[in-house]
Formats: sequence, structure tokens, C-alpha cells
Amino acid sequence: MAPAHSGTAARSARLVCATVEGDQPMPSALDPADTLPGDVGDGRALRVLITGAAGFVGSHLCEALLAGGHDVVGLDGFVVSCARPLKEGNLAGAWSHPRFRFCERDLAADPLEGCLDGIDVVVHLAAMAGLPRSWKEYQLYVDCNVIATQRLLEGCRNASLAKLVHISTSSVYGLDAVGDETCPTRPVSPYGVTKLAAERLVLAYVANHGVPATILRLFSIYGPRQRPDMAYNIFIDALRNGRPLTVFGDGLQSRSNTFISDCVRGTLQAIHGAEVGEIYNIGGREPIILNQAIEWISECLGVSPVVVNAPGRPGDQRHTLADTAKARASFGYRPRVPPRLGLRLQIAWQLGATGPAGGRATGAPEP
Ligand SMILES: NC(=O)c1ccc[n+]([C@@H]2O[C@H](COP(=O)([O-])OP(=O)(O)OC[C@H]3O[C@@H](n4cnc5c(N)ncnc54)[C@H](O)[C@@H]3O)[C@@H](O)[C@H]2O)c1
Repeated sequence: MAPAHSGTAARSARLVCATVEGDQPMPSALDPADTLPGDVGDGRALRVLITGAAGFVGSHLCEALLAGGHDVVGLDGFVVSCARPLKEGNLAGAWSHPRFRFCERDLAADPLEGCLDGIDVVVHLAAMAGLPRSWKEYQLYVDCNVIATQRLLEGCRNASLAKLVHISTSSVYGLDAVGDETCPTRPVSPYGVTKLAAERLVLAYVANHGVPATILRLFSIYGPRQRPDMAYNIFIDALRNGRPLTVFGDGLQSRSNTFISDCVRGTLQAIHGAEVGEIYNIGGREPIILNQAIEWISECLGVSPVVVNAPGRPGDQRHTLADTAKARASFGYRPRVPPRLGLRLQIAWQLGATGPAGGRATGAPEP
């Protein structure tokens, strides 16, 4: 990547990509018809509790389930991973839906009475995500990723659930996350350690208390509403505003990035099709090398990036590449969105070009 230049080009950043371009149609990435597998509820409306509902992934999942005719209880504690108005904005689409109800609870501390009443399926996304911060705020990660999971599992023991889908991460594998679910788990960050502990707890509750849980290991999700602490969000924001980018390491690290609609589709498929006690990788269609992603984003915005390389951070993964054959065989998971298109869709969202459902929501609901 040729580091370059000028604030002027950056300041005139424009959306040169978020339109339909000849050979590459721009689908609505989060179109419910595309996203929802038909058999999610085996033909009946489910009542689904989504923890972490106000987050990046959780808010999309709420909307997809509501669009599919299901009842959704969204639970979130507005834990300090990013500003509360941003999370309330994530929920704006679900908020006005007649089948949506919201429970504001800190899973690590608040009583959960009532939250699980009548629930068929739980998707447990609530967690402190993000790796660098986990070195400094370990207690918060233990509380939100381990204690919160244990308290939810206790609640689930007495609920008559059809399925608990526990959301984990490729970070449990360690420095490299390349291969299938049998790869050794050797996390190299406190975040990965707490997420692995949560997985082990889930499996202990499956074995000892019959909680019907399954585990999905997500690989680096991106797309509209991506958290502001995540790399592509930071890069797009810097490039469109003419700021230099900091790349930790040589930029040759690669990610099995998963576009949000693929992640949501895989999760919905798992509700019905995943086996209790099993673990599945949910990853993207093909890996992206970081320098390549920066080049694509820059091209798309019509700017030249100014890149500052900094030493790699402790706990950062080097390469991730999900083997998703098990998820494909068990519930038909197939990632669809190629990285270049996915990045364009995220850029379009960050530039506010995708309208109220995809842009940064402004009307915050009253939780
Ligand atoms: N985004 C990714 O790239 C990615 C990759 C792998 C795994 N995951 C996993 O997916 C899940 C969702 O990630 P995300 O990117 O949407 O994160 P997010 O921070 O946007 O959403 C998580 C939500 O959980 C809530 N939460 C945290 N602790 C809570 C608690 N104690 N009680 C109640 N609510 C609480 C937060 O307030 C937040 O709204 C997490 O479990 C994360 O580990 C995400």
C-alpha cells in the first residue's frame, strides 16, 4: 500500500461505490426474504429472547426475527462498550414493532425473573466484545462474559426452552484461527479466555442440567451498525474525514470477515438445525488481508490513504479463516456476501446512504 497524501482528496471523499454497478448488483443485504431461512420456527411463531439486543449483531437479529413473524424479547444492560444513544439507535427499527418487548437488565447483577417466561428460544449475544480493552478492564469482561452467562444458564435450567444459541468467537482459538471446530483452543487475550470459559460453562449445563444449548463461534462481523471500536468502522471514519490510519503490525494479517446478513442467517438456521452440545464456526465467504481492505475502502471513497504502522498489539490474531463445513452440513449455512461488496455496504451505511433502517438511527427509543 502506498502511503499518501492529501487532506484535500480525503475531505472530498465521496461515495463512488454504493450504487448498482454493471456486473455487481447491490442487493439489500438485510432483506428479510433473503436473510430468513423458512424453517426457523418449524412453521410456527417462536418467542425468542435475544440478550445483547441493543448491540451490533443483536439489533439485526431482532429485526430479522420480527420480520419473520416471531415475538422478540430484547434484553440489554447498556453496558459501557459504546455510547448508550448509539445502542438505543440500533434498536430503533425493532422498537416500534408490536411483537417487540424490551427488558433492561444487567445479566451479571439484576434479577432475571420474568425475562424467560414463555420463551422458546434464547440467543445469548450479550458480552463485552473487543479485545484490546480486555487487558485493562478484565473484571468487566469476567462479569459480562462469564458471570452473566452463568446467571443466564441458571435461569435457563428451569425454563422450558427448545434451544439456547450461545454466541462465541473465533478468539477462543488463539493467534491463528484457521480450520474447523476441532482446532485447539488457546486464546491469547483476556477476551478470548472469558469467551472460552463461557463456552465451557454452557457445555457443563448441557451435560449436567439438560439445557438445550448449542454454540456458534463467529468470525469478525462487519457491515451496517458495526461497533465504532472495530477496525473497518475506524478506517472508514478516518478515511472519509482525511485522517491517517493506524495499522497495528504489517497489515498482512487476514480475517475471515463475516457480513452481518450472513451472520444473522447462520444464527437463524442454527435455532432450528444446530445440534445440542455441538459447536459451529460461522465465518465469511473468503478472507480479507487488512492492507487489501484499506485499498478497497480508499478506492470506494475516492481517497488515498495515509497509513501509519504501529507495533502489533498483544492478543491480536494473525490469520483467521473459518472452515464452516460443519454448519453447512448441519443446517445449510453458506456465507453469501463477498468482502468487497460487504465493505461497500458498510461504507454506504457509514456515509448515511442507506436510509433509516441502515443509517445511524437518530430517534432513540425510550427503554
Ligand atoms: N462483532 C464481532 O465481530 C463478533 C465476533 C465474534 C463474536 N462476537 C460475539 O457476538 C456478540 C455480540 O457482539 P457485538 O459486536 O454485537 O457487540 P455489542 O457490544 O455491539 O453488543 C453486545 C451487547 O451486549 C450488552 N451487554 C454486555 N454485557 C451485558 C450484561 N452484563 N447484561 C446485559 N447486556 C449486556 C451490551 O450492552 C451490548 O449492547 C458477543 O457475544 C461477541 O463476543 C462478535
